[in-house]
Amino acid sequence: MKAYRLLDFRSLDDLQQCEEETPRPQRGEVLIRVRAVSLNYRDIAMLGNRYPLSHRKGLVPTSDGAGEVVDVGPDVHDFKIGDRVVGLFHARWFGGRMPMYSNQRGYGSENDGWLCEFKVVSQEAVVHMPDNLSFEEAATLPCAAVTAWNALSGTAQIRAGHTVLIQGTGGVSIFALQFARVLGASVIATTSSAAKAERLRQFGASEVINYQEEPHWGERVRELTQGKGVDRIVEVGGPGTIAESLRAIAPGGEIASIGFLSAQGAGIDFLALFGSLATFRPFSVGSRETLEDVCAIMAMSNIKPAIDRIFEFNDARAAYAHLDSGSHFGKVVVRC
Ligand SMILES: NC(=O)c1ccc[n+]([C@@H]2O[C@H](COP(=O)([O-])OP(=O)(O)OC[C@H]3O[C@@H](n4cnc5c(N)ncnc54)[C@H](OP(=O)(O)O)[C@@H]3O)[C@@H](O)[C@H]2O)c1
Repeated sequence: MKAYRLLDFRSLDDLQQCEEETPRPQRGEVLIRVRAVSLNYRDIAMLGNRYPLSHRKGLVPTSDGAGEVVDVGPDVHDFKIGDRVVGLFHARWFGGRMPMYSNQRGYGSENDGWLCEFKVVSQEAVVHMPDNLSFEEAATLPCAAVTAWNALSGTAQIRAGHTVLIQGTGGVSIFALQFARVLGASVIATTSSAAKAERLRQFGASEVINYQEEPHWGERVRELTQGKGVDRIVEVGGPGTIAESLRAIAPGGEIASIGFLSAQGAGIDFLALFGSLATFRPFSVGSRETLEDVCAIMAMSNIKPAIDRIFEFNDARAAYAHLDSGSHFGKVVVRC
């Protein structure tokens, strides 16, 4: 089979295609013909040594894949040949609290990921994908959609009447916008691009702020919410956005601390955090239970993942470069 391996983290030249033996499923495992993977910021962050968690050279990269079951090992009861499945981001987090070592066992960081033609995983590490989605669409769910849903529902559930702030137009943020609208919440969005601002409005954002033209956008969010602030912030910027997020959050609201896109910045001012009277909640993606919730939402609502572009398997490097350019809106996918 064909697979990619990330031999080093210096440049895209380190992403190499190779020919490997097709794996065989053992007891409790399924063999998947991978049909699509989606890229996440972590995949390009590893390349620039910007990824804060441990990661090893030489692995098959990427965490998110969807495909078709083509063989099953003994004692596999939940899946049969021909089933369409999507993988978990944390292969051994099924529900409840995250197991202690999940972040040290990630696909593409400590274990082989999904950018290959065939993959064997435990039957516990996949779920049936929604019937109404293509493989390319389902491949966007394991990280970005699960993270967005966790941000809105992991603790206090966002509901009609709430206001959610999203930052930028990447994969997590656009899913958060779509889910917030499904829940009946209104959305304020930030972006650096006038063209993307228009698309954000089409996706249901009621207000859009250009964070480059208005670097102190937290004040503007306060004005737009009659001084109250927003109920939830899907915080993907990190050190460079947290100060404005602390200005924008309402007392009793929650900053779902997700990302580090804007790594340059002063970080957290303790008194600003304390004085915000808000909850600051860092978390890592979500469990199998959350992926199942996301699949159910995708099956029952009329939203579809926002895919910016689909690349063919042989063009995986171009897909990485496209994500790295930041010009995308939503998700970047590779067909396998
Ligand atoms: N903790 C977790 O569970 C978890 C899960 C998923 C992702 N993450 C992290 O969350 C972040 C987002 O991931 P992703 O895959 O959605 O990224 P992505 O698709 O690569 O997002 C790129 C977009 O981010 C926006 N952006 C960059 N700097 C920004 C800033 N200072 N303020 C606002 N927006 C900014 C830009 O939007 P515009 O072009 O519109 O300006 C850019 O197009 C990454 O740091 C990722 O590692 C964490």
